[in-house]
Amino acid sequence: MLAAQAPPVDGDAASQSARRRTFAIISHPDAGKTTLTEKFLLYSGAVAEAGAVKARAGRRRARSDWMEMEQERGISITSTVLQFRYRDHVLNLLDTPGHRDFSEDTYRVLAAADAAVMVLDVAKGIEDQTRKLFEVCRSRALPIVTFLNKYDRPGRDPLELLDEIEEQIGLRPTPVTWPVGIPGDFRGVVDRRTGTFVRYLRTVGGLTAAPEEVVDAARAALEEGDDWSRALETCALLDEVGASLDAPSFVAGDSSPLFVGSALTNFGVRHLLDAMVELAPAPGPRADAYGVARPVASGFSGQVFKIQANMDPAHRDRVAFVRVCSGRFERGMTVTQASSGRQFATKYAAAVLASERSTIDEAYPGDVVGLVNAGDLRIGDTLYDREPVTFPPIATFAPELFASVRALSTSRHKQFRRGLDALDEEGVVQLLSDPAGDLTPVLGAVGQMQFEVAAHRLEHEFGAAIELSPTAYRAVRRTDEATAKLLRDSPGSRILARRDGTLLALFESEYWLARLESDHPDWCLERAVV
Ligand code: G4P
Repeated sequence: MLAAQAPPVDGDAASQSARRRTFAIISHPDAGKTTLTEKFLLYSGAVAEAGAVKARAGRRRARSDWMEMEQERGISITSTVLQFRYRDHVLNLLDTPGHRDFSEDTYRVLAAADAAVMVLDVAKGIEDQTRKLFEVCRSRALPIVTFLNKYDRPGRDPLELLDEIEEQIGLRPTPVTWPVGIPGDFRGVVDRRTGTFVRYLRTVGGLTAAPEEVVDAARAALEEGDDWSRALETCALLDEVGASLDAPSFVAGDSSPLFVGSALTNFGVRHLLDAMVELAPAPGPRADAYGVARPVASGFSGQVFKIQANMDPAHRDRVAFVRVCSGRFERGMTVTQASSGRQFATKYAAAVLASERSTIDEAYPGDVVGLVNAGDLRIGDTLYDREPVTFPPIATFAPELFASVRALSTSRHKQFRRGLDALDEEGVVQLLSDPAGDLTPVLGAVGQMQFEVAAHRLEHEFGAAIELSPTAYRAVRRTDEATAKLLRDSPGSRILARRDGTLLALFESEYWLARLESDHPDWCLERAVV
């Protein structure tokens, strides 16, 4: 029989997953995520010269085959998954959409990652978007490596930044490299693991990998004088307060190995990649909906973490991005959708490199596969080929923006409702309704872009043009029936329900909410991300 003759693929999955690292970069716009991504590719040999990623993005715009909106604005709605090799490992870098295209997808991508690199601009420290993304990482206990970027130019005192990280987000930074010199007059770093000095050398425009010069402590003292001794003094202080690499607490998401560098000039890029390989966890067993761990060497299973519709309007296609959780994925294999028990063949499996697709034939735990037009897959769906499994649903996130929505033409009401339901199920926006009876639906989102995508798709795909009216609500909490009842009479607040029945309390003023929270500590007002 076929099964008996098949090669022992499960053992294969274990060794392949041990070689994999699947991670995302979290940062505030402009901190250097794109630059760093590009340098990762440069150092892995995936591109010969920095600049290829941006050039590819330019070509993509010129090729004009994605959503009109994307072309008009020159932004990428779809997050990309980059796979590259480094030191005999396979690294999967999941890109978290930022800037104007910040959306729930940005958060969901983190559900497919095993670790994250947090990039901070040394002149700015923790910024708004870093904080939001960090909260999601924390809710999943994702290990985080920190990169203090832009050290080639003036910035803040690094000790002050360590305090800021710990105070503002409660993550304990443990510097692995420490700067010699100051931002703007950067000499290099002390590698605290070896006590050696890594000199800051750069290449013209950072186009090619930076040469590496590692110098012993005695020579560094001679050549760098006071800068070197000051750096050593600070390192002694860090030793004293226990701010040193601590692998178990890193893996638990409590401490964060920290590196300093400059993505633009390539300094520190190799340190970061080495850290991903040496410190970040490989894909491990994943708990199913009953809390039972499914080992990576079990039969194939995966979970859909993102759906992208209409990437190519000529074909009106729909791509479900699946993270492989166990076993070996093989193109053409028949898989079962756990929620419906339906089986389908995975004829069209694509790996997505930047915006370009290429067909893939196999994938292992930690890899991401794009399934094109594969049935009615939904975010959070589990797929498997043999031993059945269902993974817990992917969290939905507390929306931060709310808008009432109505169909411009009453004759299109049916299409309007159908479209709203579909967009809610796909996770494009959250559809909220008033349990007290107001029939105008409200859409919830974490980024403005989600509303724009919803409006565009309702009009062009479902034939129902809409009008969106922003609401005045600024803050949201998850609540229960009892508190909802009490809040109904309170001014400046409103209760809405998600389709799964979760009740959300919306508030017009953060200040008012803070007062309610302190006056009524017994009320159910949960700040939870989910
Ligand atoms: P993002 O994806 O996080 O939004 O940031 P991105 O990499 O696009 O970087 C934002 C700006 O910061 C870019 O400059 C980039 O060159 C610069 N940058 C990134 N890393 C470093 C660094 O280590 N040192 C210095 N000095 N600058 C850095 P730009 O002028 O906005 O764009 P560009 O014209 O350079 O592309």
